Amino acid sequence: MRIDILTVVPQLLESPFSASIMQRAQDKGHVEIHVHNIRDYSTNKHKNVDDYQYGGGAGMVLSIEPIAAIVEKLKAERTYDEFIFMTPDGELFEQAACNQLSLKQNLLILCGHYKGVDERIRQKYITKEISIGSYVLSGGELAAAVVVDAVVRLIPGVLNDETSALTDSFQDNLLSPPVYTRPPVFDGMAVPEVLLSGDFAKIEAWREEQALERTKQRRPDLLK
Ligand code: ADE
Repeated sequence: MRIDILTVVPQLLESPFSASIMQRAQDKGHVEIHVHNIRDYSTNKHKNVDDYQYGGGAGMVLSIEPIAAIVEKLKAERTYDEFIFMTPDGELFEQAACNQLSLKQNLLILCGHYKGVDERIRQKYITKEISIGSYVLSGGELAAAVVVDAVVRLIPGVLNDETSALTDSFQDNLLSPPVYTRPPVFDGMAVPEVLLSGDFAKIEAWREEQALERTKQRRPDLLK
């Protein structure tokens, strides 16, 4: 998979992809992540990428031209399966969309900033608009990092144990059961006996029951 991300604050996207699973996924060749600074495509002598909004009002709007320039360049090089705009008024990001995106070859992601982006960019280019939650971030960069992380870990081979993404919370509309490691007793709190029993059928049954119970308590909406 190849992911291109367009931003006016590339620094915000440095560390999320340069450690742990995301770095390993790139090292192993499962994904290429390219971060592009929109400012590099400004033809304006001050390298401006934003402007006042028509009609007045607080907040600057990302201009069309630098974004269109970089998008046209990238689109001439390859075909993108989706061009995603990160925005609080997009579709709420859920595991189902995440699974679908993990099957794609080339993704292009635009991070919003300031008051937003000129509406005509959305009309002309964007194929999917994603929100990671009902709150407003300072920009789309952290949201893009969330989406990329959630998608890349699903690419086969990225996680060492391939089954581990399949047993994630949400993959079967259930939250994960509780997990424990050593020591067997901490401050009087013992690990549930069944987990020490060595009886894998019983352990599996216990985990399913706990997952269902936790989902009923915390996210009953998932069971509908
Ligand atoms: N940009 C600002 N807030 C956002 C959100 N909640 N989701 C996606 N992009 C955003």
